[in-house]
Amino acid sequence: MIIGVPREIKNNENRVGLTPEGVKKLIEQNHKVYIEKDAGIGSGFSNEEYISAGGQILYSLKDIYKKSNFIIKVKEPQEIELSFIKENQVIFTYFHLASNEKLTRKLIEKKCICIAYETIEKENGFLPLLFPMSEVAGKSSVILGGYFLSKVNKGKGLLLGGTVGTRSGKIVIIGAGTVGQNALKIAYGLGANVIILDIDIEKLKYLEDIYQNQIETLYSNRENILKVISEGDLIIGTVLIPGDRAPKLILKEDLKLIPKGSLLMDISIDQGGCFETSVPTTHENPIYEVDGINHYCVTNIPGAFSETSTKALTNVTYKYLEVLVNNSLEEAIKKYPELVGGINLYKGKCTNKVISKLYNLEFHKLF
Ligand SMILES: NC(=O)c1ccc[n+]([C@@H]2O[C@H](COP(=O)([O-])OP(=O)(O)OC[C@H]3O[C@@H](n4cnc5c(N)ncnc54)[C@H](O)[C@@H]3O)[C@@H](O)[C@H]2O)c1
Repeated sequence: MIIGVPREIKNNENRVGLTPEGVKKLIEQNHKVYIEKDAGIGSGFSNEEYISAGGQILYSLKDIYKKSNFIIKVKEPQEIELSFIKENQVIFTYFHLASNEKLTRKLIEKKCICIAYETIEKENGFLPLLFPMSEVAGKSSVILGGYFLSKVNKGKGLLLGGTVGTRSGKIVIIGAGTVGQNALKIAYGLGANVIILDIDIEKLKYLEDIYQNQIETLYSNRENILKVISEGDLIIGTVLIPGDRAPKLILKEDLKLIPKGSLLMDISIDQGGCFETSVPTTHENPIYEVDGINHYCVTNIPGAFSETSTKALTNVTYKYLEVLVNNSLEEAIKKYPELVGGINLYKGKCTNKVISKLYNLEFHKLF
C-alpha cells in the first residue's frame, strides 16, 4: 500500500497522523510511506526522523494525494485537499460529517472511502479513537476557560480557584462523558465549585462515589440546566450523541440568565455545538460575544497540545491503520468489527445511517 501523511493545514493544527515509529513499522511490512515536508514539526518530529524511519518526504500536499492510495491524517479535509482527493482513495481521519453537509456532499462526489475516527464504536459504546482527544480537550478546557475569564481577555476577572477569603468560581459541566470527566478532574484539582450534569444516571452515580460529596451531580433536563447556568462562571458543554448533531441545550433566550462576564465553552462544537449561539472558532480568534456572554468554540483544541495529542492519538489509531493497509476492508472488519461504524462514505455512497438521515441521502449497508 502507498500511504500518504499530509501536513495539517487547519488553523493552528499542529498534530500529525503518523509518527516516525509508525512509519518504521509500516516500512518493515513492505509499505511505502510519503510524508509531506514539515508534517511532524508541530509535534516535535523532524523530516530527518521520518527519513531515518524509511519514509520519503514530498514537498507538496498535491503530490501526497496524487501518489498515495491511503491517506492518514488528523482533521477533516480542508477545501484545497478536496480538490486533490482521488476516486477510491481511502481517507482515515476525523471527519465530523454531522456538522458539515457541504463537506459530506463534496466527498460523495469524490467517490473516495471515508473512515472516520470518531464513529468507530465498540459494542459497549466505547469510542476508542475519540477517547484520547476528548481527554485532552476535557483537561485543557478548564485551563483555557480559566485563562479566558481573566479581565485582560474581557472576562469577569475571576480566578477559578479563588484565594483565602474570596469565592471560588462555579464550573458547570454539561455531559459527564470523557470530556466532562476530564474537565471535572482539573476543575476539582483547582478547588473550584463543580456541578456536572448528564442524562446517564450510572455515570452520575459513579462520579458521586468517586468524589464523595465534594462535587454536585444533577440530572440533565431543561429545568435543571436553566437553574445552574444562572450560577455558572464557566459553563462547559460536552454532550455527544455518537455520530449525530449535538442537541441544543442552551438557547439564545437563555443567555440573559447567565451572569455577565461568564464564559460558555462549547466543546461539542465539532458535532454542531450544544448551545444555540455557538459558531466554530479558531485558536487564532477563539472568543466572541453574544448578549454580553463570551463564547469559546474552538473545533480543534487538541491541536494546541500537539506533543501530547499526536502521541495519544497515534497510540490508538495505529492498530487500525495496520489492519486496514494489510487487508481488504472486509477482512479488516472481521478482525476489528468496530471499524464498520467508521466507514461513513464508500465510493460515492453514504454508509452511515445518521448522516443519511440528516442530509436525506440514500443509506447503503456495507458488509
Ligand atoms: N472541540 C474539540 O477540540 C474537541 C476535542 C475532543 C472531543 N470533542 C467533542 O466533545 C464531545 C464529547 O466527547 P466525549 O468523548 O466526552 O463523548 P462521550 O460519549 O464520552 O460523552 C458524552 C456525554 O454526553 C451525555 N449526553 C448526551 N445527551 C446529553 C444531554 N442532553 N444532557 C447531558 N448529557 C448528555 C452522554 O450521556 C455522555 O455521557 C464530542 O462532540 C467530541 O467530538 C471536541
